[in-house]
Amino acid sequence: MHKDCEKIVIGAEEIAARVQEAAAWLDGRFCGSVPVAVCNLKGSVMFFTDLVRAMKTDVELDFMAVSSYGNETVAAGRPKIKKHLFSSVQGRDVILAEDIVDTGRTLVTLRNFFAERGAKSLTVVTLLDKPSRRKVNVSADFTCFVVEDAFLVGYGLDYAERYRNLPYIAALRRDVYES
Ligand code: IMP
Repeated sequence: MHKDCEKIVIGAEEIAARVQEAAAWLDGRFCGSVPVAVCNLKGSVMFFTDLVRAMKTDVELDFMAVSSYGNETVAAGRPKIKKHLFSSVQGRDVILAEDIVDTGRTLVTLRNFFAERGAKSLTVVTLLDKPSRRKVNVSADFTCFVVEDAFLVGYGLDYAERYRNLPYIAALRRDVYES
């Protein structure tokens, strides 16, 4: 385990098994259509690439970035769209891969974004959910893991842009972000 981490919360094998289940669930939902799978950068990148490779359904890939974090462990305000999609989602079935639903504000922003752009449907798949921190009433359609309120890093999740490449999800040591 990385020296800055307190404990591994979800191991690499457990993540891989659950991502297969998420992919199978999506395959069951989308047989017959070609959805656009959207990765919300950067935290969802590992989850997204594993998820779409585990799917049997034909999908198109697109990328956007919505963020309310600076180099902090708590959201620093209203989520902002920092990078737009490459293509139109008008009339399309959209799959959105999220890393974590925390206060829920990012997900509300994204739900509004896809509704305004005329997506035919939106299916949200999140790697993690921290329901104890929710500030707005919103949820994903498929959640891989429900987690306690701790600051987590790894498998795409960062603190100040670090730890994204850890293959597991771990709780960051408090003294690392409080110092
Ligand atoms: P929300 O808008 O508060 O739901 O925040 C969602 C975003 O906050 C996620 O997409 C993450 O980028 C970030 N976030 C929330 N909790 C954590 C965490 O424990 N570790 C790393 N990033 C987090």
